[in-house]
Amino acid sequence: MKLCVALDLPTKSENIALIQKLKSEDVWLKVGLRSFIRDGEALLHEIKAINPHFKIFLDLKIHDIPNTMADAAESMVSLGVDMFNVHASSGRKAMRMVMERVNTFSNPPIVLAVTALTSFDNASFEAIYHTPIAQKAVDFAQDAYASGLHGVVSSVYESLDIKAHTAPSFLTLTPGIRPFGESSNDQERVADLETAKKQHSDFIVVGRPIYHSDDPLGVVKKIIENI
Ligand code: C5P
Repeated sequence: MKLCVALDLPTKSENIALIQKLKSEDVWLKVGLRSFIRDGEALLHEIKAINPHFKIFLDLKIHDIPNTMADAAESMVSLGVDMFNVHASSGRKAMRMVMERVNTFSNPPIVLAVTALTSFDNASFEAIYHTPIAQKAVDFAQDAYASGLHGVVSSVYESLDIKAHTAPSFLTLTPGIRPFGESSNDQERVADLETAKKQHSDFIVVGRPIYHSDDPLGVVKKIIENI
């Protein structure tokens, strides 16, 4: 299991200060919408300049018509990121086109599909998808698997079931982690580290419990020790 730290801070300098603190740690860094829209490609280069061993997950959750998604995927591969994601609800055709394009590159990144956002509770999810989260997350995962993606983003609670319905090697990346029972903030389906381990999560994403702490490096070290 790998730790992926969410770089969701309000300014670039705060993100960079956090990255500097984590400089020697074996972690992935997640660049999401806020940071990428504000700081763009330059941020990705700065991360690699701080430590080329940092792996970058570009979390833009793209969702559009198939050709536009394939074009965007190509642009993301060209940025040199190690992992990016799309929305599974964009459908099999779009995901297949993304993978066809990605696989034209010699060293393609990991591509994941978002199933159900961890901020949904069952009622608000069903209001949109008319299917319980547990079922729909597996359906989306099967679409992603059949389309040649490497894994999905899901809550911890769907991780084992997704692997059972796809393949044990099909990756799950699980946000909404509160490693040692910290506040859930706006997340609904949160879980601690022990649960993530039991659910065979491949990547855990942790944001606020790290960057809102007085000692982000200490929290990261403690998570890595307990993984
Ligand atoms: O601060 P926190 O640990 O809740 O951050 C979780 C991060 O994971 C945020 O950057 C959020 O955008 C992202 N994420 C999520 N749920 C998903 C996909 C991504 O919370 N399904």
